[in-house]
Formats: sequence, C-alpha cells, structure tokens
Amino acid sequence: MELNIAVLPGDGIGPEVTNEAIKVLDIISKKFNHKVNLSEGLVGAIAIDKTGNPYPDETHQICEKSDAILFGAIGDPRYDNDPTAKVRPEQGLLQMRKKLGLYANLRPTIVFESLIDNSPLKKDRIVDTDLIFVRELTGGIYFGERGRKDHGNSAYDTCEYNRNEVERIAQLGFEMALKRKGKLCCVDKANVLETSRLWRETVQNMESSYSNVEVSYEFVDAVAMRLIQWPSEYDVLVTSNLFGDILTDEASVISGSMGLMPSASIGSNNALYEPIHGSYPEAAGKNIANPLGSILSLAMMFEHSFSLEEESKIIKKAVDNSLKEKITTKDISENNKPHTTTDVGNFICDYINS
Ligand code: IPM
Ligand code: MN
Repeated sequence: MELNIAVLPGDGIGPEVTNEAIKVLDIISKKFNHKVNLSEGLVGAIAIDKTGNPYPDETHQICEKSDAILFGAIGDPRYDNDPTAKVRPEQGLLQMRKKLGLYANLRPTIVFESLIDNSPLKKDRIVDTDLIFVRELTGGIYFGERGRKDHGNSAYDTCEYNRNEVERIAQLGFEMALKRKGKLCCVDKANVLETSRLWRETVQNMESSYSNVEVSYEFVDAVAMRLIQWPSEYDVLVTSNLFGDILTDEASVISGSMGLMPSASIGSNNALYEPIHGSYPEAAGKNIANPLGSILSLAMMFEHSFSLEEESKIIKKAVDNSLKEKITTKDISENNKPHTTTDVGNFICDYINS
C-alpha cells in the first residue's frame, strides 16, 4: 500500500518523539512492503519564528495532499505569560483543525498492566479501565464570537453549536460504542446551557437508530468526579470542545502513564495523530522525553486511516514489551535506570524486526 504521510514535528519535545515514531514507521513499512511518502511541514512556534505564521499555507497544502498527518507538539513558554501576544503557537493547531475539518478528537485512556502502580488512583479503581473520549473539535466556545467591550474592561466568548455538528460527532460516538462495549455517555451541562440542551435532544433523537447502544446522560461536573471514582464504568464519552479539553486531561493521568497516551483528530478527508503530552519544553533537546505516545499515535494511524490492523497490533505489542522489559524513559522508570528517547525507539524497532 502507498502511504502519504505529512510529518509536523512542531515545538518542544515534538521533533524528538516524532523522530522515533518515524523510525518505527520505516521499519514496519519495510516489513509489510508499504511505500511511504513523507513530507515535512512547519507548525507552531517554530513556524512563527521562520515565517511569522503558526500554520503557513505551505504546511496546509502538505497536509491536504496527505492521507494522514503525524504531529508532534505545539507550544513555547515565550508566549505563555504574554497575554498580549498577537500571534500564538496554539493558533496553528486550532487553524489546522478548522481548515482540515478535523471535527472529532479521539482520546483513549488505556491502562497498561505493568504501569498500574504509577497511577495516582488506587489499583482497584482502575483495573479494567478502557475508555475513549470523542471530543468535538471544530466548534463550540473555541470558535465562537469573542471580544472585548467597555473599553477593554469586559470580555466575552460565545458557545454555539448547530444540530449537524452535534449529529456528526454523536454518530461517531455511537459507532465507536458499537465496536466496543456498547455504552455511550453524553456529557453536557444541560441543566444550565442551551447548547447542552441541543446536544442532549439531538443524541436522544438518535438513540432509536442505535438500539444496541446503552446511552446515558451526565452533567460534566458529575463526570469530572465519577471519572476518578469509577473510571472503569465508562466506555465511550461524547462531549463538546471545551468539556472534552478539560476532561481528557483529567482522564490522561488515570492510568499513570500520560506520556504514553495517543490521540487522533478525525475529519472527512484527513486525520491527524498526536501524543497528548504536549511540548514539555523543560525536556526538549535532552533525549529524555517518552516517545511511546507518538509511537502509539502511529499505531492509531495504521488502524484508523489505513485499516491496517496487523501493523497497528505489532506496534502496540512492541510498546507493551518495552514496558514489561522496563526499557522506559525517566517519566515512568521509577527506580530503574532511565533509558533515553532514542533507546526506547531503538528497542521498539528491534522488537518489530525480530
Ligand atoms: C489540546 C490542547 C489544545 C486545546 C490547545 C493547545 C489549543 O490543550 O489539544 O487539548 O485546547 O485543544
Ligand atoms: Mn487540552
């Protein structure tokens, strides 16, 4: 198969972890005889430095021509404490999502048996946890009208959703539930927000088309609580952009292995894969960042964009094995001697080759 992949390493530890995923991509495509065409593009702070734009047109064209995008991370501390900055790296990510129509963000929480003691939660609470968030990504308060009034002394952000936007994300949630444990939780704030009432109404209207899915409706504040009490009770959770942003950060630490969590942002014509850990600037350039989130994002790419399940499984098995053998980076190595980013990548490649 011919795989056209855009590579956007981005900022911070993005380039280092992406590099390891590309090594894995190379090995696996040789093993399975795939022809890989890679094109690299700039995004984020590095793109601002070089072009003044966090998502240059050239990068957009590279992404549009590709079948899938492997993305590293975005963000730079130079912008974090400057609320007046006109151009920010994060705008690159938001533009990319909007322009490429990546409307659904899939963020799984996977518990790795060998890392269970790393979790901040008690073991009995997290065994059997296997959940996935389906977060709406191109609407809501992130993209609503915003501004200042009253000579800059008052500010507003608005949240708007239309029925089509809710239907398309809910459909993905229902279908995901059918492939998994058959449970869908619609997370909203319908006791207060009108957009949430539209969400709930829309999902309720779809229930009859998916009679094999057990649907529940929960308020976002309650989910924030129940997620750390009984995470194993959830299967698929569908929610709006901002709620999804917050809850997926919470969910990412449940397993104790945030550095391993992959994600996919899916659109009708393209999809982008990225580790959820972000740019982690303190670790940049030190060869200590965990490349497994990026490598598992590659596994998600094989599965979702190319329907190549076998390739995806081998990558996941190699990752599992590196954890069992304790070939891990500093963030999860506990008392063992930490390995470097490159070591972990090499171990995965050797395992796949063996
Ligand atoms: C995420 C990030 C982004 C978001 C930021 C960097 C704009 O936090 O992917 O969750 O808020 O969506
Ligand atoms: Mn976030």
